[in-house]
Amino acid sequence: MNTLATIEARRSIKHYDPEHEMPEEDLARLIELTKLAPSSFNMQNYRMVVVRDPELRKQIRAAAWDQAHVTDASVLFIMCADLKAHEADPAKYWSHAPQEVQDILGPMILPFYQDKPQLIRDEGIRSTAFAGMTLMLAAKEMGYGSCPMIGFDGEVVSKLINVPEDHVLSFIIAVGKEAKPAWPRGERLSDSEVVIQDRFA
Ligand SMILES: Cc1cc2nc3c(=O)[nH]c(=O)nc-3n(C[C@H](O)[C@H](O)[C@H](O)COP(=O)(O)O)c2cc1C
Repeated sequence: MNTLATIEARRSIKHYDPEHEMPEEDLARLIELTKLAPSSFNMQNYRMVVVRDPELRKQIRAAAWDQAHVTDASVLFIMCADLKAHEADPAKYWSHAPQEVQDILGPMILPFYQDKPQLIRDEGIRSTAFAGMTLMLAAKEMGYGSCPMIGFDGEVVSKLINVPEDHVLSFIIAVGKEAKPAWPRGERLSDSEVVIQDRFA
């Protein structure tokens, strides 16, 4: 499949084969591809909690309106963001770049985000979203279905997976072997509703 066909074929899958176990090499490949997603300053501030423990999955399902994909998918990725990523040694994000680029960008990261909690949080949500979309398209190409999810009690799930104070839970992605196809795709809004030319009126 090429990228355009993968984008057209991806759907939010609700029914998974509960017996299917994702091979370790598929999981590793999926993570490797997800990490190619872009992030501001290459901070890679997304964190993926890979949940496979069946007991924990039952507890998360109970906090997620009993949605079956929480337990039936092969893997649950809980996408979180590290709100302190900008404070880490910036050299590690830019070690690949020429020294003159490192010298400019490295010192920019901390002042750009410092004392701006809303911007830091927004950056976390942005990065997890880019990583999540990359993950779902990669999963589709690899023969897996996926479903992004926000239908759960964030406080309860954060506690269940011990999200640290300086991290935030963004959303969940279920990935597994499709047992039933998705319903027909929901109508998309017209271009006139979603596309604004140059500026809002
Ligand atoms: C942020 C977000 C949260 C979502 N939460 C859920 C969810 O909790 N449960 C679910 O079954 N689908 C969930 N979905 C899937 C949407 O319902 C789905 O993307 C939408 O209906 C379009 O369908 P498609 O992805 O198959 O094109 C979510 C999607 C997004 C982007």
